[in-house]
Amino acid sequence: MTRTTETITPELHSYLVAHSAPVDDVLADLVEETERRFPDFRGMQIGPEQGAFMTLLAQASGARDIVEVGTFTGYSSLCLARALPADGTLLACDISEEWTSVARRYWERAGVADRITLTLGPALETLRALPEEPRFDLAFLDADKTGYIGYWEELVPRMRPGGLLLADNTLSHGRVVDPSNTDEAVQGIRDFNDRLVADDRVTQVLLPIGDGLTLARKHGTALT
Ligand SMILES: C[S@@+](CC[C@H](N)C(=O)[O-])C[C@H]1O[C@@H](n2cnc3c(N)ncnc32)[C@H](O)[C@@H]1O
Repeated sequence: MTRTTETITPELHSYLVAHSAPVDDVLADLVEETERRFPDFRGMQIGPEQGAFMTLLAQASGARDIVEVGTFTGYSSLCLARALPADGTLLACDISEEWTSVARRYWERAGVADRITLTLGPALETLRALPEEPRFDLAFLDADKTGYIGYWEELVPRMRPGGLLLADNTLSHGRVVDPSNTDEAVQGIRDFNDRLVADDRVTQVLLPIGDGLTLARKHGTALT
């Protein structure tokens, strides 16, 4: 019996992807277009197993209203929007018209564009402009890492009781445990991770999926 998580070698990674929900043609084409057009940024996209996990989580939790901070070319938003019921909503926040114009095309192709509202502009302003009332069932944080705490503080009051919050890159490619690394994005993630541990509004777990995916649940009972 092991008490630690397996080290994921490239072979094990291929194996776990092959034994998770398959990547369909829409997602595969989106990956291909992102790699071809934005090769320097392709690492920003979440991986296939993380997408499968997020779809399953959104489905299993019965999420109807989702917010995403950091959309890029749309992979994660597609995975989440596909889990929504026909009258569900996803608010997508980003600052890039160029990247999100790709996302829009794939939302159309996947038949989920009618559920998604894209707001372009600094996400902190977008979130602050929302009524401060519990309206979201699920939130996904994946934008600038130094902004995570600010996004978190705007999001938690707007989550319904029992709502789920996901935050990406919370292992920062292992750099969180390298004290010699003083990069501000890495420090932003360390500060965020520490803040969550001290936040008694949620219960959380840092999962070793992709580059670290924190899953938190806001206390309280969902009203359904
Ligand atoms: C890691 S990428 C998101 C990847 C996306 N979730 C996916 O699966 O493809 C980060 C995104 O955050 C956006 N971003 C960066 N700073 C932002 C800000 N202040 N407000 C809103 N979006 C921001 C970038 O434009 C970029 O598209």
